[in-house]
Amino acid sequence: MVCASYNPPVDSVDSYEPLNLLETKSLTRRFDVLTAVDHVSFAVRESEVFGLVGPNGAGKSTMIKMMTTLLRPTSGTATICGYDIVKQSASVRRQIGYVPQMVSADGDLTAKENLLLVATLYDVPKAERRERAEEALEFMNLADVADKRVRQFSGGMIRRLEIAQSMLHRPKMLFLDEPTVGLDPVARSSVWDHILELRDRYQTTILLTTHLMDEVENLCDRMGVMHHGKMVAVGTSAELKTATGDPKATLDDVFIKFAGERIDESSGFRAISRARRTARRLG
Ligand SMILES: Nc1ncnc2c1ncn2[C@@H]1O[C@H](COP(=O)(O)OP(=O)(O)OP(=O)(O)O)[C@@H](O)[C@H]1O
Ligand SMILES: [Mg+2]
Repeated sequence: MVCASYNPPVDSVDSYEPLNLLETKSLTRRFDVLTAVDHVSFAVRESEVFGLVGPNGAGKSTMIKMMTTLLRPTSGTATICGYDIVKQSASVRRQIGYVPQMVSADGDLTAKENLLLVATLYDVPKAERRERAEEALEFMNLADVADKRVRQFSGGMIRRLEIAQSMLHRPKMLFLDEPTVGLDPVARSSVWDHILELRDRYQTTILLTTHLMDEVENLCDRMGVMHHGKMVAVGTSAELKTATGDPKATLDDVFIKFAGERIDESSGFRAISRARRTARRLG
């Protein structure tokens, strides 16, 4: 499936190759003297689930904020469905959905009220809002709690609701920043199932960030490793394991080779305590 308004180059029509839905060229973002994202060039193919990994502060969220048009690049370019993230940011926003790293659902509203609010923000036609909200609740297995206040939800239910919110306007591409942080293994695997079904049913292209290597292994077609703002490796998990030179390499070994360090256990803790703080705010 191709974006309605996206015209592929003529020479790519005959020989079918998956299109690059997202492409960055030398994308860079500086905060004063810190270069958070440093000349990153990579692509995400249509209907792919792409995992971005890297230690704390590697630049993953900054990448996502630029690609979702929330943050202007210092230099370089990126396109989504052929639209430039700076020059055609309104068109880009119509093609994408975004679930931020911090919890974003409103705890004082019910699940359905949250969805209707977001449907309004996304400009879903009024006559379709209720039906889309119900379909999204059904799809994310939340129909039976549609009228419950979100402050009573578990972390896994909140994440599923946020993914439901992000798909209401049927985006071509979804950005999920640490979608399973702080979730127990059952809730995590339920979010994984829903992400894969979203891709299979709606051909949604998905870019997610994670600190969990089993998440990459189970969910992602390809992965990119970021380190100090640079994209230091891109490929399938099998390709990157081979690139370590060790036939028995695990993805943890891949991480150590390319990011030069072990997966930081404290990263999980930091992220979880952040998520818990947000959960407390929810009630
Ligand atoms: N608004 C900002 N102002 C100044 N520095 C920032 C800002 N946002 C991010 N940074 C810095 O940019 C670097 C990259 O941060 P970013 O949040 O992109 O990392 P990350 O890979 O998402 O990390 P984590 O795994 O902890 O979520 C960090 O050093 C961070 O402190
Ligand atoms: Mg981050």
